[in-house]
Amino acid sequence: MKIFIDTASVAELNQAVALGVADGVTTNPTLLARESGSAEQIYRDLCSAIDGPVCAEAVSADAKSIIQEGKKLAQISNQIVVKIPVSKEGLLAVKQLESEGIRTNVTLVFSPMQALMAAKAGASFVCPFVGRLDDTSQPGMELIEQILAIYNNYDYETEVIVASIRNPLHVRDAALMGAHAATLPLKVVEQLMRHPLTDIGIEKFLQDWGKVAGR
Ligand code: E4P
Repeated sequence: MKIFIDTASVAELNQAVALGVADGVTTNPTLLARESGSAEQIYRDLCSAIDGPVCAEAVSADAKSIIQEGKKLAQISNQIVVKIPVSKEGLLAVKQLESEGIRTNVTLVFSPMQALMAAKAGASFVCPFVGRLDDTSQPGMELIEQILAIYNNYDYETEVIVASIRNPLHVRDAALMGAHAATLPLKVVEQLMRHPLTDIGIEKFLQDWGKVAGR
């Protein structure tokens, strides 16, 4: 399973790259708002920090403007994937941008039918938001199961990036279901490596090594 890092922070991305776990990056306007500097400079810095896709979100409302914005974003680097919220106008833009060789990621997906429409439009990636669904008492991972089943039934090539991940269980279940990718905040990446029994085990080994080392 590919791991994308859900961040606009180059410092965070560098940490994930150093660990060897980062295959790409997803950003959104909320993540950009936490950083300083222009969006364009942030995208350039993220592209320099990783050899992989960097998802940059278009914020226009109508298809023509989304296409223009997407083309401008794509000029920054061929690593840029244009992230487009799912809507009729958004999918019109997806179809056009993909036909011109610009990769798209359809985002803010909350239903299997939205994911089907994104695949029909030719999106390279789709981002279903599991954590935000969980927050409304709907099981987010059921959405992933359904999208993967539909895509497998008809051999769609659109890759599912499980998004809005809040904890290691989301990641475990995404991997068990065979999702193509998951996008993780750095905090969750760090949680994936830890277990309290490992910490206890290391402490005990160090204590015992103290008895051996002085001999
Ligand atoms: C996906 O690409 C989004 O940037 C992200 O996963 C949203 O997560 P949130 O629900 O924690 O904001």
